[in-house]
Amino acid sequence: MTGYGGPEHTVLTDAPTPVARAGELLVRVCAAGINPVDFKTRAGKLKIIRKYRLPVVMGNELSGVVEAVGPSVTRFAKNDRVFARVDKDFMGAFAEYAIVHQDHAARMPAALDFTAAAAVPLAALTALQALRDELQLAHGQRIFIPGGAGGVGTFAIQLAKRFGAHVATTASPRGEALVKRLGADVVVDYSRERFEEKLSGYDCALDLVGGDTLARVWPILKPGAHVVSVAGMPEPMTAYKDLGRGSGLAALFWLASLKTRRAAARRGASYRYLFMHPSGADLEYLAALIDKKQLEVVIDRIFPFDQAKEALAYVERGHAKGKVVLALDGAVP
Ligand SMILES: NC(=O)c1ccc[n+]([C@@H]2O[C@H](COP(=O)([O-])OP(=O)(O)OC[C@H]3O[C@@H](n4cnc5c(N)ncnc54)[C@H](OP(=O)(O)O)[C@@H]3O)[C@@H](O)[C@H]2O)c1
Repeated sequence: MTGYGGPEHTVLTDAPTPVARAGELLVRVCAAGINPVDFKTRAGKLKIIRKYRLPVVMGNELSGVVEAVGPSVTRFAKNDRVFARVDKDFMGAFAEYAIVHQDHAARMPAALDFTAAAAVPLAALTALQALRDELQLAHGQRIFIPGGAGGVGTFAIQLAKRFGAHVATTASPRGEALVKRLGADVVVDYSRERFEEKLSGYDCALDLVGGDTLARVWPILKPGAHVVSVAGMPEPMTAYKDLGRGSGLAALFWLASLKTRRAAARRGASYRYLFMHPSGADLEYLAALIDKKQLEVVIDRIFPFDQAKEALAYVERGHAKGKVVLALDGAVP
């Protein structure tokens, strides 16, 4: 990425091979997942949180083979097949070689090839951390997950079902069969129906859409419900807990989320915006589910590496069903 702005700032170029420092792995990248955060970062929408020194190598998740390990690496060795959500401060997954901290990596699920493995980390960690850690989703609860057919949604539906919840989601007719196959109990066609006229009595929601969808979620919830969004407005806890920042950013987020928090309070509900975090331990948990065939990875499209710009544009159009992945030369199993 050569600058903040549009696709013209995504450039295929030569870059020096990075060097693994203490605790880090140098990974030969075989595939990299694409996420909305990639084009949002390029557009400068996250500058308030993190500003990159340019040019910077884009890309937030990968699968590949450990090429070398830095000092004090204990958990991995050369030739291990790994997958990871890379460090947010550095990115770097859209490259032949990338750096991953050993605490952020896990061994790839044996059942997956490189392209499928690269589709897992960011979206599946987001779903897991939202459902398990923030919502503490319990057996028998009723959860609403708007936006179920995309990268995060396809993992979130399956994990929520695994935790024993009743799941309602929204999808257009293009995604309906997919979300039903993944286990959704109720599907509202968001292109034709208003979900707040169809649903009621939900214990919690995981919002993957934001905007008007989040604004309309409150009437369907029970008093005392908890809403976690990854697509709405950050709130003060986002600054403190997820970003490790102070009261300046928290005050900005307080203001940005005021309307949403007021709507929550009127319903006797609580609102939290989550930024997911990299975690090798959580990836190990997900890999075990995948290997036991208890979690399916849904791939929409695989693009060759030299079509990164086209792949980003495809995801930016907002209609992917599951995940979109870039394949490098070594991606063939
Ligand atoms: N805070 C975090 O840590 C974090 C982490 C991951 C993702 N996110 C955010 O979460 C959001 C979802 O990410 P993602 O990777 O799942 O995106 P995605 O894969 O691009 O989502 C695409 C899907 O969303 C569906 N969709 C679009 N508009 C919708 C609507 N109004 N109602 C219901 N479904 C709708 C589309 O269905 P149709 O084609 O049928 O329209 C498509 O299947 C993004 O805003 C992303 O930036 C945040």
